[in-house]
Amino acid sequence: MKDVLILTGAGQIGMAIARRTGYGKKIVVGDRKKENALAVCTILNEAGFDAVAVETDISSRQSILALLDTAQSCGEVSMLVNAAGVSPSQASIETILRVDLYGTAVLLEETGKIIREGGTGVTISSQSGHRMPALGAEADELLAMTPTEELLGLDLLQPENIRDTLHAYQLAKRCNVKRVMAEAVRWGNRKARINSISPGIVVTPLAMDEFNGPRGDFYKNMFAACPAGRPGTADEIANVAELLMSDRGAFITGSDFLIDGGATASYFYGPLRPEK
Ligand SMILES: NC(=O)c1ccc[n+]([C@@H]2O[C@H](COP(=O)([O-])OP(=O)(O)OC[C@H]3O[C@@H](n4cnc5c(N)ncnc54)[C@H](O)[C@@H]3O)[C@@H](O)[C@H]2O)c1
Repeated sequence: MKDVLILTGAGQIGMAIARRTGYGKKIVVGDRKKENALAVCTILNEAGFDAVAVETDISSRQSILALLDTAQSCGEVSMLVNAAGVSPSQASIETILRVDLYGTAVLLEETGKIIREGGTGVTISSQSGHRMPALGAEADELLAMTPTEELLGLDLLQPENIRDTLHAYQLAKRCNVKRVMAEAVRWGNRKARINSISPGIVVTPLAMDEFNGPRGDFYKNMFAACPAGRPGTADEIANVAELLMSDRGAFITGSDFLIDGGATASYFYGPLRPEK
């Protein structure tokens, strides 16, 4: 039996990372849209990989457990790439919290129970979370440590405390980073590592929905006025994921990596600074 890489989210970022890290492994691809999972499996299999598609909704613990069962029937799970998510222009506040925040937390928790000794994982957060002001030590700890089934009951995640879908997305992505810190401790008990990556604007179907959504001009200006002067590509996110998931990343766990062409730097201290 082969080692198994679980990929959740059969999108551009997830596929780019799987191509760098999944050779020689069984790649189990879970996506809410089975057609997306199948399309990625076709591309991977036609390029010499060994991938199988499973319809998976990460907002459901049951669905995650079924995915992990399938993965374990193929071999030992040595890698997790979580690139499943919905963006502010794609979904409601409730769905964003359920998928991006709760779903990611459950996936990290459940995979942490079965990941092979020495295994590694990355989950995709976002630069959007980095633009949100600090929440304070107490809120951070709640996001990091609250049992998964109680997370969506937290006061700071109630609808009256959330302005719009962008705010919900930012809270979800902040939570991802905090969960990764807490999970790194648990994963460490199995000598496994977990990190997060916070991409800036990366051209994918999800980013296209943002360009065409209510904040389209904001995002187009963001990449035009950031130090890189362009949006990123999924392959540039995979460059860092590959390092994190290889032995060269052996001392890196519980960390978040902002890869945004300098957009966040420009947002705080440069031309993208919002008017006060
Ligand atoms: N593209 C960007 O500019 C950008 C920037 C920052 C962060 N991100 C994050 O990167 C991750 C990957 O997005 P992408 O840009 O590759 O988008 P993408 O649209 O190419 O892929 C996202 C995939 O996630 C799947 N998905 C959505 N909800 C799901 C669910 N409940 N269960 C399982 N799968 C689900 C979608 O069907 C889709 O196939 C997301 O978490 C996103 O928030 C993207």
